[in-house]
Amino acid sequence: MSRPQPGPDGEVVDPRTMREVLGHFASGVTVVTAQADEGPIGFTCQSFSSLSLDPPLVVIAPARTSGTWPRLRALGRFCVNVLAEDQTALSVTFARSGVDKFAGVPWRPSRFGQPVLEDVVAWIDCELWAEYDGGDHTLVAARVLDLGDDPGRRPLLFHRGVYGLLESPPG
Ligand SMILES: Cc1cc2nc3c(=O)[nH]c(=O)nc-3n(C[C@H](O)[C@H](O)[C@H](O)COP(=O)(O)O)c2cc1C
Repeated sequence: MSRPQPGPDGEVVDPRTMREVLGHFASGVTVVTAQADEGPIGFTCQSFSSLSLDPPLVVIAPARTSGTWPRLRALGRFCVNVLAEDQTALSVTFARSGVDKFAGVPWRPSRFGQPVLEDVVAWIDCELWAEYDGGDHTLVAARVLDLGDDPGRRPLLFHRGVYGLLESPPG
């Protein structure tokens, strides 16, 4: 790992401290998928957020080292699948490089042909809108084309490097 770049006042923020402190921000977990010529592709992505209602935009942040993002970018369309509480295995599988991540994974095509994973809490079908420099990641804004949810399902959470569940009842 390269030495952290000092900030404007020469301060250096240790990447480990960044991970530890920012790990307190609990979030859901998504798998970003797309249908490529050679078959469905995807990767696990925690850095997901809504951005704008009008126009309808969301953001994700793929790492510059991601092998899957350049292929998704080339396709220009992708689906953000919000994982449910019993889908930790999917999160782990789609975080692995160099394997057939879709082996044995049930999915259906969205209206725009992108893979919607079975039993997710919600899915957001998107089109690439803009990309911004995000340091060792890229900040990607995407326009929402279609979306849906299953109010009877509870989300998978990720907090301080550990998967967790929501206590409150679904719906
Ligand atoms: C819980 C979790 C959250 C992750 N969040 C992100 C993320 O927000 N952005 C990212 O680029 N990678 C994230 N990753 C790592 C990618 O999923 C992983 O590097 C990628 O799938 C590797 O496959 P690839 O080489 O095919 O891209 C996350 C992994 C896990 C387990």
